[in-house]
Amino acid sequence: MNIRDDILQRGESLAFSLRTLYHGAGYQPYRMSKFEEYDLYAGNKDFLVSDNVITFTDTNGKLMALKPDVTLSLIRSFRDAPDTVRKVYYNENVYRVSKRADSFREIPQAGLECFGAVTEADVCEVVELAAESLRQVAGGGVLDVSPLGLIERIFEEAGLSASERARLYALLGEKNPDIPDAPEKLKTLLSVCGALPEALPRLRASFPEAEELPALERLAGGAAAPMQRLDLSVVGDTNYYNGLVFKGFVRGVPDAVLSGGQYDNLMRKLRRRSRAVGFAVYLDLLDRAEEPRADDPCLNVALPKGRLGEKVYDMLARAGFECPALLEPNRKLIFENPEKKVRYFWVKPSDVAIYVERGAADVGVAGKDILLEYEPDVYELLDLGTGKCRMAVAAPKTYRDDPSRTLRVATKFSRIAQDFYRSRGRDIDVIHLNGSIEIAPILGLSDVIVDIVETGTTLRENDLAVVEEIVPISARLIANKSSAKFKRGQIEKLTAGLTAIVEEKA
Ligand code: PRP
Repeated sequence: MNIRDDILQRGESLAFSLRTLYHGAGYQPYRMSKFEEYDLYAGNKDFLVSDNVITFTDTNGKLMALKPDVTLSLIRSFRDAPDTVRKVYYNENVYRVSKRADSFREIPQAGLECFGAVTEADVCEVVELAAESLRQVAGGGVLDVSPLGLIERIFEEAGLSASERARLYALLGEKNPDIPDAPEKLKTLLSVCGALPEALPRLRASFPEAEELPALERLAGGAAAPMQRLDLSVVGDTNYYNGLVFKGFVRGVPDAVLSGGQYDNLMRKLRRRSRAVGFAVYLDLLDRAEEPRADDPCLNVALPKGRLGEKVYDMLARAGFECPALLEPNRKLIFENPEKKVRYFWVKPSDVAIYVERGAADVGVAGKDILLEYEPDVYELLDLGTGKCRMAVAAPKTYRDDPSRTLRVATKFSRIAQDFYRSRGRDIDVIHLNGSIEIAPILGLSDVIVDIVETGTTLRENDLAVVEEIVPISARLIANKSSAKFKRGQIEKLTAGLTAIVEEKA
């Protein structure tokens, strides 16, 4: 039977080309039911992208779930075979809450898994097939690979606690350079990262004993080496992952379209002696790969409207990204300087992170308050040292805490307030407001507020005082994760220019 290309929908033809690739590499097709017993997920919630699962009771009374993930079911359905290698590929829909839509979505995935006596050659084959998948679906891309096992050993050697590790992994995931207290070896590892062929000799010189080195050497000699980068921002939960983990990006799609790694730890957790490695391609995201902006030569910068934005523009102009039209007195919101290949948008300060996370802007400037509150999936490249203020708990001067009562907290920053009081073991009622927070305790709506304090004038003029500081805030340069790969030159130039300006001011 011949299938005419023009009849296949884009998603179908992408899935078909991936199946052809995996089949050709000797992987066997694996078809599974859409349902799974819920207990499989209840015990492994952290492994899932979202721990919300659609459940129903089957006719026999068993609690079932619509599959939110393929890997766990595959492991469950395999007999442990630590002496042989099983290689399978799949093309299935999974059902999970999409962070973007904030509702359940049916997400088509294609992927492969390799279980059993997995060797270094098998790991490399899987990583190469991941890179080849990017070529099949988008003609190329970038595969970031991180030696998670080596990072974990550095943390172990430094005797870091679980919470210190979690903090450092979060900073690595954000590409946040602000990690002065990290173990020296981690800083060295960060400094050797980059395109795999160039990074490898540096890695070899600094970490000759790294267990991941032989696999990386093999990858660097492979056909997909130019697409691969050593990049520590690929972070996986170490309860599940070990060794190499990776993420794939293609031009024009703001999120990673492929994610995978070695997961021997998950196998152990599910009482399997086999090793494992695999990845999934998120086919739903690839529909966006053909957007017209894909080849846009301009760097798109989202600036926060207002005084902070004007200050920041000044720094950007000094860093070589000037756009004089921006200073003209009019109500336009988009400005471009084709000569400098830069385009600016004025957006509401609290919206900058959304524009950047979704790729409408490549980079932007957002307050740390917004980043802590919304946790956008972006890189945080630089503390600009401007827009400084603090997040604080404040209350009327007469306020006395009564720990026997639930504390009523009015705020625009519900997550920050909740995280802060959770860390104190304090029960609170959050009253979410959108502005003029200071009025809440005056009118008896709340006991305290959690809000930004800059000069302190608003508090003073309303007879309030700071009870406790939560965190210092300043403006940060953020970047879309995909733009950081495909407009790397421009973003690195911008970051370097701004870093020099920040250091000069300090
Ligand atoms: C912010 C913040 C405080 C004020 C603090 O409000 O919510 O109200 O600034 O600044 P200060 O310490 O210098 O007085 P914003 O101007 O954003 O208005 P809002 O009432 O809409 O939150």
